[in-house]
Amino acid sequence: MTAFELTRLLPADHFAKALREDARRGLTAPAKWLPPKWFYDKRGSELFEDITKLPEYYPTRAERAILTERATEIAALTGARTLVELGSGSSEKTRLLLDALHGLGTLETYVPVDVSESALREAGRQLALDYPKLTVHGVVSDFTATLGLPRAVRGPKLVAFLGGTLGNLTPTERAAFLAALRAELAPGDSLLLGTDLVKDPAVLVAAYDDAAGVTAEFNKNLLNVLDRELDAGFDPEAFEHVALWDAEQEWIEMRLRSLREQQVAVPALELTVAFAEGEELRTEISAKFRREKVAAELAEADFELHEWWTDAEGRFGLSLAQPV
Ligand code: SAH
Ligand code: TRP
Repeated sequence: MTAFELTRLLPADHFAKALREDARRGLTAPAKWLPPKWFYDKRGSELFEDITKLPEYYPTRAERAILTERATEIAALTGARTLVELGSGSSEKTRLLLDALHGLGTLETYVPVDVSESALREAGRQLALDYPKLTVHGVVSDFTATLGLPRAVRGPKLVAFLGGTLGNLTPTERAAFLAALRAELAPGDSLLLGTDLVKDPAVLVAAYDDAAGVTAEFNKNLLNVLDRELDAGFDPEAFEHVALWDAEQEWIEMRLRSLREQQVAVPALELTVAFAEGEELRTEISAKFRREKVAAELAEADFELHEWWTDAEGRFGLSLAQPV
């Protein structure tokens, strides 16, 4: 039987407080916005899994193709005893790394880190069935607030950050995040980073605005989270999903557009938020990269890019980097 342990890294009231602060700041700003981590309640994590299976959403399949091809090489290059994964979600692609590291005989512990406790528990339950000898130590945390990893983590460690999630941070947040991550790593440790790549805008937009409307539902689920956690009065039907390509910044921007003029009560904040007809709330960016940009951002945080792999169609990039 696998040992599955769950640690909550942040104080019990952290998420309730952080959501209130983020909602107050974002909903009272001249250009309204909310950080993307609030998408991922139980329903949001399930909807994201549905997104990964959509015909338009190529990043998961492209990244899986690279991992399938390179996992043995990654295992040999890193010799990891501990695999840490940030934003692990269902840990489904991670199994390719677990299998390869298990084959090499070095792996002892897997540490999935996610804001979504429901996703961590579900992944942990499945992994316990399939990897009886592996110690799985789940960590509920916000990797933009703290990166503190469990003390017992033994090196060499491999930190995986997959799914293009780095691109959901702004350039400033990315620099701070990579510097904080670098500070957690010792010589001999490695970073495996998945980044989606710049390509035909029509392909990119379709990946974030699918025909079946799953991404629209995922985006609007943020309003359900506000309604439940802050007792707010958002009607998801009164907003429409918008995904657009910003060619200058090279990122996809996700927004919720108010279909009419409306006032929304947010009692937990003693606030009423006014939306004009057509006014938009920015819910997420998903930056797309080129190899040089990934290498430059890594170098800025004192990482050296050792390997760069893409899928056969050049849609997605996987980097293996080491502390300088
Ligand atoms: N790695 C998976 C999931 C990607 S979706 C894949 O490649 O398919 C992004 C994941 O990161 C979700 O599981 C979400 O819950 C988690 N996440 C988003 N923001 C986070 C944050 N600030 N801290 C920790 N986890 C976060
Ligand atoms: N990291 C994923 C990405 O940027 C997250 C994601 C996929 C997402 N589809 C989404 C986030 C739709 C918000 C809305 O591709």
